Amino acid sequence: MQDKIAKILREIEDFQIHDKQTFELFKRNFTSKKGIISSLFEELKTLDNNQKAIFGKSINELKKIAEQKEKLFAEQYNSNYTAHNFDLTRIAKSQFWGSRHPIQITLHRIINIFKEMGFQVAEGPEIEDDWHNFTALNFPENHPARDMQDTFFLENPQYLLRTHTSSVQVRLMESHLLPIRAIMPGRVYRNEEITARSHCFFHQVEGLVIDKNVSYADLKQTLESFVKKLFGEETKIRLRASYFPFTEISAEVDVTCFLCGGKGCSVCKHSGWVEILGCGMVDPNVLKNCNIDTEIYSGYAFGLGIERITMLIHKISDIRIMDQNDIRFLSQFQHFSLF
Ligand code: PHE
Repeated sequence: MQDKIAKILREIEDFQIHDKQTFELFKRNFTSKKGIISSLFEELKTLDNNQKAIFGKSINELKKIAEQKEKLFAEQYNSNYTAHNFDLTRIAKSQFWGSRHPIQITLHRIINIFKEMGFQVAEGPEIEDDWHNFTALNFPENHPARDMQDTFFLENPQYLLRTHTSSVQVRLMESHLLPIRAIMPGRVYRNEEITARSHCFFHQVEGLVIDKNVSYADLKQTLESFVKKLFGEETKIRLRASYFPFTEISAEVDVTCFLCGGKGCSVCKHSGWVEILGCGMVDPNVLKNCNIDTEIYSGYAFGLGIERITMLIHKISDIRIMDQNDIRFLSQFQHFSLF
C-alpha cells in the first residue's frame, strides 16, 4: 500500500497540466469520485484498524496534494472557478543542487587540519621544468631514481608535467622567505598504466617545514597530530625506513587501520596497518641547490596521495570511478559538507 501511495504521489507531481484537456484528465485520474484516490479510500475499508490509521493519513495527504494542484490550475482552465485561496505557504519540493567531489572533500579536510597547525598553502604550475621537478630535488641526470616516477615529457624534454608537488617546495625554498611552514596541494601526472589502483593523474598534498633546529621528532609529532585529526584520536602511526632522493633519512608512514582499529580487515589486508604517506628530513643537497645555509637551517617534508586516502576512507575499490562523473557515485557524497 505504501509503495502504491508513493507511486501515485509521484504521478501527481509529475503530471503535466498545460491545457484544458490535460486539466480535465488530471481531475478524472486523481480528484474525481471515480479517480484513483477515491479507489484508495475504498481499498482502505478492507484493511484492519491498525493499517487503516496509518494509510488513512497518507491517503488524506495525497488527496490534499492533488486538490492543491487542481486548484492551482483551476483559475486558468476551469471557467466557472474563481478561487484565490492558494496555499502560498506550502514548502517547495526540495531540489538536488549537486555535491562536492570526494577528492575535494578529503583535500579540504586535510588543508584545514594543517591550517590549524599553522601551515600556509602554496601552489605552483602543473607544467614544470626539469630543475624544479627533478634536478634541484637531488635526482641526478640519468639517475635510476628518475624512473621511480614515470614522466610525461613535453615536446621540448626540458619541460614536463610535474610528477609530484615537491616542485612547489623548490619554488618556495628558492624564494628565500624563511622560515617555511607550508603545504602544497595539487594535481600531478605520471605515465602509468590506468588500472583499478593507479591512474595517470592524481592529487597530492605535500608539506615542507624549513627552520632552525627542525628535527625528525618534530616531523613525527606533526604527522601524529595530523593523522589523529583525520582518522580519530585512537590512531597510531609507525614509520618504516624508505628511500627518496630528496630526503635523508626517509620513511614511509603507516597508520593503524581506521576501519577495523588494527584488528585486521580487507582494507588493511589483515595486517592492521595501512600506508598513507612518504616523508623524511630534507636532504642537505636540496637545501644547497636552493642556496639555503645548511649550517643554520634544516627541515622536513612529507607527501600523501588524496585519491588513496579517499579510497581508504570510503572503501572505494577502483580509482577510475573518481574521474568518470557518474552521478550515481557522486550523489553519494551530498551529505558531506566541505568544512
Ligand atoms: N614526492 C614524493 C612522491 O611523490 C612524496 C614525498 C614528499 C616523500 C616529501 C617524501 C617527502 O612520491
